[in-house]
Amino acid sequence: MNPRPTVHWLLACTILLVAGCAKDEGPVFVPAPVEPGVPIDTAYFNTEVLPIFTLHCWNCHPVSGALDLGASEASPGVSQAYANLVNVVTTGYAPNVRIVPGDPDASVLWQKVTGTGTYGLNMPPNGTTLSAEELQTIRDWIEQGALNN
Ligand code: HEC
Repeated sequence: MNPRPTVHWLLACTILLVAGCAKDEGPVFVPAPVEPGVPIDTAYFNTEVLPIFTLHCWNCHPVSGALDLGASEASPGVSQAYANLVNVVTTGYAPNVRIVPGDPDASVLWQKVTGTGTYGLNMPPNGTTLSAEELQTIRDWIEQGALNN
C-alpha cells in the first residue's frame, strides 16, 4: 500500500485540529478538583471576594450607579456589594439573579466574569479579565453558599 495518502490524511487532521483550537473563547477557567477527605478552602466574602470587586469593578459600578459593587454599608455589617448581588434579580436579565447561593452556573455574575456571552457583555468589559485565582475564589464563595462571611 502506498503510505502517502495516510500521511496527507494525518496532516489534514492536524491542521483542522489546530485551526479548531485557535478560536478565542475567553479566559479558560479550570475549577480545582475536589479531593474526598480533604477540607475545602473556605472563601470569605468580605476579605477575599469584595476586594476583587473593589479593584476590578467598582470604577464602573460605583455608589451612584444602579449596581454599587462597593464596600460601604447598605445596613450594619452588610456591604453594598453583598446587598446588591446575593439573591437580587438583575435589571438587564430578569428574572435571572445576579448571585444564586450554591449555584455559580445559574448566577448572572459568574456567567459574565467567565465570558460565556450568555448575558450581554463580559465583565470587566474593558479588555481585562479576572485571574484564574480570582475566579476560583468567586466560584468557591458562591458554591459555599455565598455567605456574608
Ligand atoms: C468598564 C466598565 C465596567 C467594568 C470595569 C465592569 N462593569 Fe459590569 N457592567 C458594565 C456595563 C456597561 C453593564 C451593563 C451592560 C451589561 O449588562 O452587559 C454592566 C453590567 C453588569 C452586571 C449585570 C447587572 C444587571 O443587573 O443587569 C453585572 C452582574 C456586572 N456588570 C458585574 C461586574 C463585575 C463583577 C465586574 C468586575 C469583575 C464588572 N461588572 C466590571 C460596565 C462595567
